[in-house]
Amino acid sequence: METEIKRKRVLSGIQPSGVFTLGNYIGAVRNWNELQDSCDCLFMVANMHTITVRQTPAVLRENTYRAFANLLAAGLDPQKSVLFVQSQVPAHTELCWILDCYTMFGELSRMTQFKDKSAKNADNINAGLFTYPVLMAADILLYGADAVPVGVDQKQHVELARDIANRFNGVYGNVFTVPEPLIAKTGAKIMSLSEPQYKMSKSDPNPNSFIAVSDTPDDILRKFKRAVTDSEATVKRGEGRHGINNLIEIYSIAAGTTPEETENRFDGKGYGEFKVACAEAVIEMLRPFREKTDDLMKNRDYLDGLFRQGAETASRIAERVLSKVCKKTGIIR
Ligand code: TYM
Repeated sequence: METEIKRKRVLSGIQPSGVFTLGNYIGAVRNWNELQDSCDCLFMVANMHTITVRQTPAVLRENTYRAFANLLAAGLDPQKSVLFVQSQVPAHTELCWILDCYTMFGELSRMTQFKDKSAKNADNINAGLFTYPVLMAADILLYGADAVPVGVDQKQHVELARDIANRFNGVYGNVFTVPEPLIAKTGAKIMSLSEPQYKMSKSDPNPNSFIAVSDTPDDILRKFKRAVTDSEATVKRGEGRHGINNLIEIYSIAAGTTPEETENRFDGKGYGEFKVACAEAVIEMLRPFREKTDDLMKNRDYLDGLFRQGAETASRIAERVLSKVCKKTGIIR
């Protein structure tokens, strides 16, 4: 008889499309850490997603190692969680093709990230960019994930994964677990420093718009000093005050305070002082993470060993669902 209550299965991923930003750290990786002890977790470097936008091969390879090292440096532990690289588990692309046949053109056309990315890459609106959310659904459904921790920008994609799972289950019975997005209460949408009405993004061509986790303390200080705010010059949150709202959120997370405490602490103080305090808090938060990543990047054999271990475990789990899907759909393997 099974006495243990079933632990929730959690899966999430991050693209190695550049160096991680403060948004990725605060909105994603930092929260994954906390789930490791209470859930069965899988975390992956989603490198197959990254080629939807043209990449330099050597840079993509390097960024894939760096992203994996970042996950370890953030505290993800290969003894507790399954950590792997997406391209090393071919079941993702296999299931993706099958799910493509259960996803509607209209659904994919409504994805806001597709609309944004095709506007930004007008000369390369490839089919992969369009079907990207189906690969993401495959990533999630392959492992029977109950919960998918993501930032706000990925919520729509997780909802599509739910729709695809429900549609497939409606035809073939209960094959897929229907996943829930898990959105953190704070930090789920860190905004750009130069255009704070938009989210901070690692693919932004303006390097002053984001803090990269690899930035030096000098870079971080310079970027915060240049951060766009408004003419009110009060450290108080308010409707439409995108710049200062964002800085208050970042400071509060980095310094471990609540937004109210931050407002009180900087009551009567100007933006200049507050921006320096933001930079200092972020520098301290990222320092151990940056140093650990640099150390890990010097040891490729160690990383390769972990890649292999993660891919083996992930493949074993994925195989169960994939073989069931193939059986149900009449695909001979
Ligand atoms: P990606 O690589 O763009 O981002 C990784 C995670 O970081 C979150 N994030 C943010 N959170 C707060 N503020 C921001 N400015 C910010 N920018 C990014 C994202 O919401 C995400 O949680 N398609 C995904 C990767 C992926 C995936 C998956 C995620 C592939 N397969 C399966 C979950 C499950 C992506 O491009 O994330």
